[in-house]
Amino acid sequence: MKSTARLLNLYGCLYGVAIAAVLAASGLGVASAMVYPAAWLLAPLALAPLGLLALGMARRVRELRRYAHVPGPKPSFFLGNLRSLLLHEHGARDRALVELHQAHGPVVKVHMAWGSTPFVSLSSAPKELGHRDMDSNRVADRTVLSQSLMGLQKGERHTAHRQQLSPHFAPKAVLQGTSRLEEVSALYLQAWTSGQTRHGSLKADLHHWSADSLGSFLCGREWEQRTDLSEYLAAIGELEEAISFRAFHPLFVRWLFPVRAARARAAYRHLFDHLKSALERRLQRRAQPGREDEAPRDVLDTLARLTDLAPTGGKTRWSHEECVEELISLVAGGTDAMSYTLAQALTLLSRSPDVQDEARARVLQDPGDLIVRNILHETMRLFPAVPFSSKISKVRSIAVEGITIPARTNVMWMKTAVGLNEAIFADTRRFKPSRFAAGGGKRPAETITRAMPFGAGARHCIGRHLAEDLCARFLSAVLREFDLVPVDDVVVSFSATVSVTPSSVPVRLVPRRPSGCAVVTETHEPALADALQMAGPGR
Ligand code: HEM
Repeated sequence: MKSTARLLNLYGCLYGVAIAAVLAASGLGVASAMVYPAAWLLAPLALAPLGLLALGMARRVRELRRYAHVPGPKPSFFLGNLRSLLLHEHGARDRALVELHQAHGPVVKVHMAWGSTPFVSLSSAPKELGHRDMDSNRVADRTVLSQSLMGLQKGERHTAHRQQLSPHFAPKAVLQGTSRLEEVSALYLQAWTSGQTRHGSLKADLHHWSADSLGSFLCGREWEQRTDLSEYLAAIGELEEAISFRAFHPLFVRWLFPVRAARARAAYRHLFDHLKSALERRLQRRAQPGREDEAPRDVLDTLARLTDLAPTGGKTRWSHEECVEELISLVAGGTDAMSYTLAQALTLLSRSPDVQDEARARVLQDPGDLIVRNILHETMRLFPAVPFSSKISKVRSIAVEGITIPARTNVMWMKTAVGLNEAIFADTRRFKPSRFAAGGGKRPAETITRAMPFGAGARHCIGRHLAEDLCARFLSAVLREFDLVPVDDVVVSFSATVSVTPSSVPVRLVPRRPSGCAVVTETHEPALADALQMAGPGR
């Protein structure tokens, strides 16, 4: 809390100093004009900053009035509701928002510091969020991934990127691609069966598995299977941290925190170099005479054909940088989200022996049984890997619960609150994957799309089928091979930037085959009830 208070004081001081400086400069200009008549020519120049200040203040007053009808905490003129938003520090805004929903209801306005777009948080996910007028609001990404799906604004360039990449992520292509990845998963399963972890803990293993699987899917043989990807994973985390920090803080944070900005640049550089070398290896492979057609038709191949470094190719060329940045956007989009979803699925299953037994019995009979998908969806409902998504429209206002949210508002659905909203899901605190099962040929009463964990509209998550397929296959294999036993004597903490990262995965994997020995993996965790309390209710 101390650091939040310090940060807010710093912002407050900066606004104060900036206003004082404008007033002083203008005052000085006017005073000199009175003393030296010739200086009257400079008076407009001296008064201009004052005019701008007055304009800015008038806009802020208009903004505060515009949202006066929307429930929410009382904002301060300069800092808006940053204090409420940072109640639990930077990596726990999801908790702060759940609490705001508890206090103010399903629609909550949050004014950001002066100069930033205000947002309205929802504990439901209305269909209008997917309307074509709505664009995903990833303002912050535009500074770090500006040439990729993540950071491009809706428009021609974004559509071109989706058109080139979407075929790789369609269900059929995903099925073909992921069936080649069994060997990545096998490395982890083998290590766990012999009582080892590959990277020191179950949490680290899941993280590495996610990066390795995604990297192999995107880049095929050109993905460098390094034993240690810690630096690469840390770089993804650093980038997410930068994106999220910029999204929720005043515009001047980039200049105010040069060390943070330098760390983000270094992280970007690290990912860029790592993925650039994969692209270059593929270009070399394709350049070998008679071998162009040997390379798999994966994402890297599409990018290799598009890059302006390719000796041949279609008319549309993307810059080399654009191609590598797109790879960064894909790995940053999926790595942490998949490993968190798996981590929480294992945790929930270890604490629900009945669900675990039933799931195991069913996957032993049929490895593709839908129960595993339902478990993943139930995990996403309770622990959404990307806790908030936001949309913005220049023209479209929407009405939620009878409250009109004006156009040009950053409308954000807070998925933890949506998943626990009793008006949408029954018995919300129970881990009950069967809620998503169709009965007797009928559609299930509840579907995960009500919570939109993968976003909405034309910019919904491009990796959705891939993430579901990869996680389902791996979870299915883990259930077949291991009993999942809870570890109760430790406390897990969560950091939510773009996606959530747990401090550990409190599960012991006990091999079911007699030759294996137990793997004790992590050392913390609250009981499920505590974990749910952290996620908070959202009624
Ligand atoms: C459990 C796993 C995942 C979750 C929960 C998740 C969630 C999301 C969400 C909420 C969005 C924002 C959608 C919107 O603005 O409406 C998104 C976008 C995106 N995701 Fe995922 N994602 C996951 C896995 C992946 C994977 C595996 C990849 C890479 C193949 C990926 C790549 C992307 C990209 C590139 C975007 C930006 C799409 C665009 O703006 O056109 N995600 N994801």
